[in-house]
Amino acid sequence: MFNKVIQVALLALCASTALAVQTLEIKGADFVNSVTGNRFQIVGVAYQPGGQSGYDPSSGVDPLSNGTVCLRDAALMQQLGVNAIRVYNVSPDLNHDLCASIFNAVGIYMLLDVNSPLSGESIDRSNPSGSYTSSYLNRTFAVVEAFKSYPNTLLFFSGNEVINDLPTSGPNPPYMRAVTRDLKNYIAKHSTRSIPVGYSAADVREILLDTWNYLQCTTGSDASDPSRVDLFALNSYSWCGDSSFTTSGYDVLVSDFSKTTVPVFFSEYGCNKPSPRVFTEVPALYGPLVAPVLSGGLVYEFSQEDSNFGLVTINADGSAKLLSDYDALQKQYNTLNVTTLQSEAAQNTTVSPPQCSSSLITNKGFATNFTIPSLPDGAEDLINNGISNAPVGKIVTVSDTKVTPQVQGSNGQAISNLAITPLKDDESNTPSGQTQSASTPTSSTTSSAPAATTSKKSGASTLQASLGALLAVGLLAVVLL
Ligand SMILES: *[C@@H]1O[C@H](CO)[C@@H](O)[C@H](O)[C@H]1NC(C)=O
Ligand SMILES: *[C@@H]1O[C@H](CO)[C@@H](O)[C@H](O)[C@H]1NC(C)=O
Ligand SMILES: *[C@@H]1O[C@H](CO)[C@@H](O)[C@H](O)[C@H]1NC(C)=O
Ligand SMILES: *[C@@H]1O[C@H](CO)[C@@H](O)[C@H](O)[C@H]1NC(C)=O
Ligand SMILES: *[C@@H]1O[C@H](CO)[C@@H](O)[C@H](O)[C@H]1NC(C)=O
Repeated sequence: MFNKVIQVALLALCASTALAVQTLEIKGADFVNSVTGNRFQIVGVAYQPGGQSGYDPSSGVDPLSNGTVCLRDAALMQQLGVNAIRVYNVSPDLNHDLCASIFNAVGIYMLLDVNSPLSGESIDRSNPSGSYTSSYLNRTFAVVEAFKSYPNTLLFFSGNEVINDLPTSGPNPPYMRAVTRDLKNYIAKHSTRSIPVGYSAADVREILLDTWNYLQCTTGSDASDPSRVDLFALNSYSWCGDSSFTTSGYDVLVSDFSKTTVPVFFSEYGCNKPSPRVFTEVPALYGPLVAPVLSGGLVYEFSQEDSNFGLVTINADGSAKLLSDYDALQKQYNTLNVTTLQSEAAQNTTVSPPQCSSSLITNKGFATNFTIPSLPDGAEDLINNGISNAPVGKIVTVSDTKVTPQVQGSNGQAISNLAITPLKDDESNTPSGQTQSASTPTSSTTSSAPAATTSKKSGASTLQASLGALLAVGLLAVVLL
């Protein structure tokens, strides 16, 4: 009787409490939902509208600083069916609360690079020792501070394609481990949640496995070595057109990474020739041959830029138009089985990383020095005491759910009633099964009045609130008995 009452009370509680997305963590070679323990696969898009010029901190611009823009794009991404974005260049000194909260509301996680193309804001592959400075590290720590409090922050990339050929593979790998170590040490001291840190590699097959092995091995006795990456990602463009598992070389990747001790996924994919794209790699990536080894990937890229990889054209006045590639990708996502995609028990939860040793490295010229550079002057104090003027991010109430800029479908027709639909408790976004992106989303007509005032709270405070409510319900149950 008592159990039954509690069960009913719990159900009622679950139905009425608005929670943030559940934070993700790493177990073995999988991303898992920290609450359910189920495996999580990344179904994502790269998001850097404006390309490099979309990052201009002196004019107050980065991809996550304008709520009008984020609302428009989050609505389009929600319909597309993605659960994650990768953002390459963010300014720690801009306010990201509204954008982060919008993506949180629709169950979309954020993968964030800590670097930028501006001078002093990344490791220079032609001068790694000279660019590894405390002022550079301060910048990377500031990005951590700015994003650590959002529950939908999934991970940080310590580097992107810094090691991109044999000549750069000698001097740079130790610095990738050094920056990874410093970020992990900073997070351990200054974040209530352990946010993973990893590296995004160029898919240069010659050095790919050496890079993976160099970064995933341990210089200590176990997986806790902070200079070891928590995950390894690659930017992969080997599946072009209506290719196949073997023609694309996916079979080789799966076999190469089958013994990985960290999650591996595509931090970019989506070859753009031939055009238009058919995205037949999507069912393969999430299908039985690849999914047991890789953790999904992010399509390059949401907005149409000079390089011609876009799904959506964005105009200077804020209006946008879907491209046929958006429809093609959505159609492929809609073929996925959402249950198998996100609701499976995690496997491979115990892994032992290889011991770092020159025997792991096959290319002559690739780094075999596993003595990681020590901290630059002044950086130890930053790690011990935290940076000064640390930015603070927090989830805020998303009160406007309706998209204001005009958006056209790929057929040229205006999309009416475009809005985000804040998700129910603890859901991440999934493909909706809708085939026509330009059709009116059913949910937006039932105006999201209650949802519109829903503030998804950060994990810790929400847990406290839930426990409080649970106690109250429990007391009520006792009284009823
Ligand atoms: C995970 O475990 C499954 C089943 O035990 C196995 O088939 C798969 O290859 C493993 N994956 C990795 C990455 O070790
Ligand atoms: C945000 O973006 C919209 C649409 O592009 C634009 O009209 C608006 O001026 C921007 N807001 C700010 C503060 O830059
Ligand atoms: C999706 O996968 C689940 C679990 O494997 C299965 O029970 C279900 O029938 C599948 N759904 C569809 C529509 O194929
Ligand atoms: C290995 O790297 C460390 C740290 O940068 C350096 O002090 C040492 O001289 C290097 N060893 C060799 C053999 O190059
Ligand atoms: C460190 O970063 C913070 C936040 O961006 C900034 O205010 C501060 O000036 C930086 N400190 C140094 C020494 O660069």
